[in-house]
Amino acid sequence: MFPTGFVWGAATSAYQIEGALAADGRGRSIWDTFCSQDGRIVGGDTAEIAIDHFNRYREDVKLMADLGLTAYRFSVSWPRIQPDGSGAYNRKGLDFYKRLVDELLSYGIDPWLTLYHWDLPQALEDAGGWPSRDTSKRFADFAATVHAELGDRVRNWSTVNEPWCAAFLGYASGEHAPGRREPAAALRAAHHLNLAHGLAVQAMRAQNPDSLIGGCVNVYPVTAATNSEADQDAARRIDGLQNRFFLDALLKGSYPEDVLADLSHLSDMEFIHDGDLATIAAPIDMLLINYYSRFTVSGAPGGAASAAAAPTDSGSPWIGSEHVGFVNGGRPVTSMGWEVDGSGLLEMLQRLTDEYPRVPLYISENGAAYDDVIGEDGAVHDPERVDYIDAHLRICHTAIESGIPLQGYFAWSLMDNFEWAWGYGKRFGLVYVDYETQARTMKSSALWYADAIRHGGLLG
Ligand code: NOJ
Repeated sequence: MFPTGFVWGAATSAYQIEGALAADGRGRSIWDTFCSQDGRIVGGDTAEIAIDHFNRYREDVKLMADLGLTAYRFSVSWPRIQPDGSGAYNRKGLDFYKRLVDELLSYGIDPWLTLYHWDLPQALEDAGGWPSRDTSKRFADFAATVHAELGDRVRNWSTVNEPWCAAFLGYASGEHAPGRREPAAALRAAHHLNLAHGLAVQAMRAQNPDSLIGGCVNVYPVTAATNSEADQDAARRIDGLQNRFFLDALLKGSYPEDVLADLSHLSDMEFIHDGDLATIAAPIDMLLINYYSRFTVSGAPGGAASAAAAPTDSGSPWIGSEHVGFVNGGRPVTSMGWEVDGSGLLEMLQRLTDEYPRVPLYISENGAAYDDVIGEDGAVHDPERVDYIDAHLRICHTAIESGIPLQGYFAWSLMDNFEWAWGYGKRFGLVYVDYETQARTMKSSALWYADAIRHGGLLG
């Protein structure tokens, strides 16, 4: 049994589910632009309709209630609320999220609000995007306004979802919007995303000390393919850029010296101003962790990599370590090609506990894509996803038993949705969505998860 009060959730993000990109005065985001460009998204998919959650949110909240979720993690769309990312706010955009939150609360489901899940207003990208320091300040203003409007109804807040992806897939590999391939700019973006987090924490904390505020990082344990010096160094570098660059900044108020040295050919780091790291390390009430898989790396290039594979023509996100190869670790893979390895989750939770100041931890995303289909019986049987979630929940349980302060779990995702550059081809949902009719069908994993929640988290 999991402890009483353990948070049982599922997660989504605005751009991946809402659709209605032109409704009620929403502005353009970098993802609207990116999706309109040839060759960016598999199959030319766009998020114009996505899964029409903007119009179907009541039905979707009912599904959450049927599942027995105690919490729902979602994000707000910045351009829906502030169309140009600075200046005027859009009342109708804010009202959508008020309606959504009120609907959740009416079922006793706790809203967990993420302020930034990658849909930057296009106007801010036109002004420089995340490589520009001003974007961090714009974000803090936006966070303060959303918090002032919704802080009475929403207790749990998180700032930036997966800054690693926003910086390095957006500005180094170009796999994500805005699709730039500029390693030095990506490094600035990473710092400004961290700074945006810190400034937003400070602004919200000053407004309402009762809010619980956290940051959200995606962590991957990194294993060296062999004991060779080159492979060990590759592991150090990838761990540095993926994990320590963000964790050390948020939790220790410093950037790892070795990572800065790896990147020194790109920049003299003049964009890191005095006091920035103290801002970034503003005290948080919790750390949100997205966990999917483990990396195995080698110092030799090539050895094409499940973990590094991009669906479209892209560069490398591994700035300063482009020579590193990603190696198949020999584990079963999901339809993303990501290796399934629950032990990596325990490894990261343990490391957070041993090497960082103690802070409540939540798994804010965990899940898997498989090639789900509706069977002749009208049901969607996804035993692999059940096994995946079950294995990771057992790891969570072990972690709690050993004293790690893990307090909740959010499955990614509640429903199938727009998987960024992969379009609609990759299904992560507990709930199957027929993209033609928008019909929702609980997969067997959803029914299993509901049962697990009812029974305190573990079955059998
Ligand atoms: C991380 C992201 O936060 C989410 O948007 C994405 O769909 C999942 N991982 C799966 O790739």
